[in-house]
Amino acid sequence: MAPSFLAAVAPDDPPVPAVEPRLRRLLDDLDRRDGYAPGHSTAVSTLAVRIGRALGLDEVSLAHLALGALLHDIGKLFIDGRVLAKPTSLSATEWKAIRLHPVLGEALLGPDQSEAGVLSIIRWHHERWDGGGYPDGLSGSSIPLGARIVAAADAFSAMCEPRAYRSAVVRDEAVEELERTSWSHFDGGCVHALIESLNLTRRDSDRRHNLPFVRRTA
Ligand SMILES: [Fe+2]
Repeated sequence: MAPSFLAAVAPDDPPVPAVEPRLRRLLDDLDRRDGYAPGHSTAVSTLAVRIGRALGLDEVSLAHLALGALLHDIGKLFIDGRVLAKPTSLSATEWKAIRLHPVLGEALLGPDQSEAGVLSIIRWHHERWDGGGYPDGLSGSSIPLGARIVAAADAFSAMCEPRAYRSAVVRDEAVEELERTSWSHFDGGCVHALIESLNLTRRDSDRRHNLPFVRRTA
């Protein structure tokens, strides 16, 4: 079932990618981890595929996108749960530890996962369009497209989920924040595709309920 911020399961939403038992166990461990929102990885995968479809990616790229998005935070298994769940601001040392999770995730899966498109999402999903992200400070289109898509999907999903240190924001506020940070944090093309995919889903849902569809204009 789709999380509420995705409004509804779209008719063509993909099933959660099938993963081997070892990866399933790791994902289940991550969902149970203190400070991690259960279902976050699945929500990011669903939303990333919607964005990828809106951008016209082919089926092979969409499959890599779905799996990379599902596994994007797997490196958080190595981060102290007390830090992930901390309700107050983090120290510099704690931030440094959290910022290791992309490279730890890549190292965890690298020996078994040979698909570069999947590993690149895991390593670079916290890079920023303006080069201010981590771990490598990549910028603009030097960040692989899959990682740019997951960055937008991850941020949107995270804003809509309650965390130990803040409440969830409503969906339109999350959209406004993504629009505000387009072309600084995020690839504006990916943000545009995300908003389009949400609107299309809302239209599909509204049609089923015979409600008028009103597109966001601002
Ligand atoms: Fe992450």
